[in-house]
Amino acid sequence: MKALAWLCRSAALSCAVLALHTLPGTTGPAGAAEEVPFITTPDRVALAMLEIANVDASDTLIDLGSGDGRIVILAAKRFGARGLGVEIVPDLVRQSVLNAQRAGVESRVEFREQDLFKADLSQATVITMYLLPEVNLELRPSLLGLQAGTRIVSHDWDMGEWRPDRTVTIPVSEKAVGMDKFSRVHLWVVPAQIHGLWCGQGRARGAALRVTQDFQRFSARLGGVAEIEGFDGRIDAAVLHAGSQGEIQMQQRGDRLLMIRSEGRYAALDGVAFARTTAGGCERKP
Ligand SMILES: C[S@@+](CC[C@H](N)C(=O)[O-])C[C@H]1O[C@@H](n2cnc3c(N)ncnc32)[C@H](O)[C@@H]1O
Repeated sequence: MKALAWLCRSAALSCAVLALHTLPGTTGPAGAAEEVPFITTPDRVALAMLEIANVDASDTLIDLGSGDGRIVILAAKRFGARGLGVEIVPDLVRQSVLNAQRAGVESRVEFREQDLFKADLSQATVITMYLLPEVNLELRPSLLGLQAGTRIVSHDWDMGEWRPDRTVTIPVSEKAVGMDKFSRVHLWVVPAQIHGLWCGQGRARGAALRVTQDFQRFSARLGGVAEIEGFDGRIDAAVLHAGSQGEIQMQQRGDRLLMIRSEGRYAALDGVAFARTTAGGCERKP
């Protein structure tokens, strides 16, 4: 069943049996172990995954469903990164430990027998995965909750409406599954979570910035600042870019949004800070 599922998806075929097996409500963390088979990422693709994320020695990488450990080991050996492999099959965990010793990187890597849905991802600066589309989607809320700027890389499968920031296609003539002889590598950079109401501080007291977020895009409506109604833009890690000429840059620092650049018709916002509020509105200036 596992191999059939993988083949159906990789070949983009319509498989009735797979459709039945993946009806809503039939998949979930408990079923994940049965649904994601062990299929290795080819070395060239593993390298592309690390390169697209710009992995270096300062990174802590977690591979979710780490198989024989190859991605974690490559990240340590080639880029000096620290790594953790989370894998549910005990034999693969043992194999990964041996492979790390053979590669001479055992001091920089760890392999844990664990369900990937229960793994603590908070220390990761990079997360890699070669799973299945519905498993990616199930992980999506946890991944979006990670620190802004965390890089997520997925081999072949995307994350639905959370569009990748970048995708590369790599020819793989020896691809073991499916009819496609290429792999896709997708990169996402976790955007700051800024949805909600932010109140102006200091001289901007009384200004209300209401932000609607759609993954890396946002739309901000501004009340209480003359002649500026709002702006739409893009979130790049913790920095917001907006304005048709890029006149606005804001940075999220904890519960504050700081205007770090505001030019042209947005000049009135220069240096303004907004604080997140759960209240229904922002207090007006006396
Ligand atoms: C397609 S393989 C990818 C292996 C490796 N990451 C690579 O790219 O070469 C998916 C791996 O996820 C593991 N896996 C499946 N479900 C899991 C779960 N719930 N928790 C941890 N690992 C899981 C499988 O045993 C398998 O080794």
